[in-house]
Amino acid sequence: MDKKVTVIGAGHVGATTAQRIAEKELADVVLVDVVDGIPQGKGLDMLESAPIEGFDTRVVGTQDYDETRNSDVIVVTAGIARKPGMSRDDLLNTNAGIVHSVVKESVLRSPDAIIIVVTNPLDVMCSVAKKASGFPRENVIGMAGVLDSARFRAFLAMELDTSVQNISALVLGGHGDSMVPLARYTTVAGIPITELLPQKTIDALVQRTRDGGAEIVGLLKAGSAFYAPSAAAAEMTEAILKDQKKILPCSVHLMGEYGVEGVFVGVPVKLGAGGVLEILEIKITEDEKRLLHASADAVRSTLNKLDLDG
Ligand code: APR
Repeated sequence: MDKKVTVIGAGHVGATTAQRIAEKELADVVLVDVVDGIPQGKGLDMLESAPIEGFDTRVVGTQDYDETRNSDVIVVTAGIARKPGMSRDDLLNTNAGIVHSVVKESVLRSPDAIIIVVTNPLDVMCSVAKKASGFPRENVIGMAGVLDSARFRAFLAMELDTSVQNISALVLGGHGDSMVPLARYTTVAGIPITELLPQKTIDALVQRTRDGGAEIVGLLKAGSAFYAPSAAAAEMTEAILKDQKKILPCSVHLMGEYGVEGVFVGVPVKLGAGGVLEILEIKITEDEKRLLHASADAVRSTLNKLDLDG
């Protein structure tokens, strides 16, 4: 392959992301983890699936960042995951230290890469990655909105007994309890869901979307979601590597857009080669704006608990 993706963290999300990228033949994959043997074992196991699945991607697992040299995309999944009863913010200090160190190591070898952050608490970890890399905001993107929108779409498809492929959804805001699913911009074959479902049902599905991560944590008991998060990370990776100019909800560093300054929150962006090509400022109601600002404030208050200069 002429493209290269590094996935840092070979746990549930990282290994599944690597597998999806390999199976789609998007790029050669370097899987990095701090635990000796895990990325090597999973990487080799994936390679041994290639003859059956029919892909020619090279996959290598390593502890050595030199193998990540000249990556086009770096997907950061390293960190600890939630256990039942934990919020994403409970992971703050441990994961900030991990994200800071792995990003520093990576960008030394891949100074032009696009970083996709997956580690939680997502929006704050994006700020950590931006600071550690010194990259412009176009190069640091958080995976949240694609996942949250996919959850909303899945629940709507179940409710309406229709194909998920007919459903297009938009979720704004931080990746947490304050996220803002936009029912008005959510459609089924072009028809707004507000015309298809009573408000009470929409409200219930919006709430289930907000709690989507916790619902999986509650079921799994040990660890958090990884099939849908890895699918979302792989979709973003594909949009960048193929310069698709795809519009996806992603966490980006806002500098005044939507009246938000200096924090990462989820908004619709155009993704292509070079990362964030454009931030789309769609029309939202005063009510939606209030919710988006509350969400940005929640991200900011978590961010303020961290000493980014330390
Ligand atoms: N460098 C590289 N890898 C690391 C480091 C580090 N400094 N610290 C931890 N890791 C690795 C762990 O060894 C583990 O293999 O990160 C991996 C995390 O995997 P899991 O525990 O399976 O967690 P996962 O479910 O993949 O979630 C990872 O993504 O969705 C988020 O909230 C989730 O923050 C969590 C992250």
